[in-house]
Amino acid sequence: MSDKQHAAEKAAEKVKDGMVLGIGSGSTVNYMLKKLAKRMEEEGLQIKGIPSSKKTEKLANELGIPLTTFAENSKIDLAIDGADEIDEHLQLSKGGGGSLVREKMVDSIADYFIVIAGEDKLVKSLGEFPLPVEVVPFGWELTEKRLANLGCQTALRYQEDERFISDNGNYIIDCQFEIIDDPEKLHSEIKSLLGVVETGLFVNIADEVIISENGQLRSLKK
Ligand code: 5RP
Repeated sequence: MSDKQHAAEKAAEKVKDGMVLGIGSGSTVNYMLKKLAKRMEEEGLQIKGIPSSKKTEKLANELGIPLTTFAENSKIDLAIDGADEIDEHLQLSKGGGGSLVREKMVDSIADYFIVIAGEDKLVKSLGEFPLPVEVVPFGWELTEKRLANLGCQTALRYQEDERFISDNGNYIIDCQFEIIDDPEKLHSEIKSLLGVVETGLFVNIADEVIISENGQLRSLKK
């Protein structure tokens, strides 16, 4: 079993009967969903999920996991999500899959948010992974210049030769900074730029990180 599957399955064990669960996105979360579906079948566990992407919604439907919306539930008991980078203060860089806006909406409202990952996602400082920023398509060229003025190399995201379009109909600009030593400050600076919808910096949102390294589980808490 891979490290990310190990961490994901451990987190699936934390889900309790009756919970409203925020479901992140990505390959690590997919392992968590599969384990959760198994628990629901074997133990009769009942939950409702709020998915953070169309891909997660599709997999949850295929696995028979009941879903709900913010119209029906304004509260999330527990959210479980992956990350692209995790620093020692549990600050995250996310959005490698392009779902950062919905992920942040889901993860930040949860009473408790668990991040799941293999040890390879742990970093001393964020920034090696290009920071995804979701932007409005209109005038994206201007927004890209504003981002570049903050001192990063920018790249509009493509997928199979087409411009990547997020679930919200927006573009993603990946921003390569040398190092992100103050994620909170950088997040505020980027958020203040016209045309920016959201950044992939998840600052002071994670409550716990479940990491697996060579089959050994570790939990990091705030
Ligand atoms: C998607 C995300 C994912 O959680 C992140 O990219 C990690 O993905 P994976 O579990 O596949 O490594 O932020 O927008």
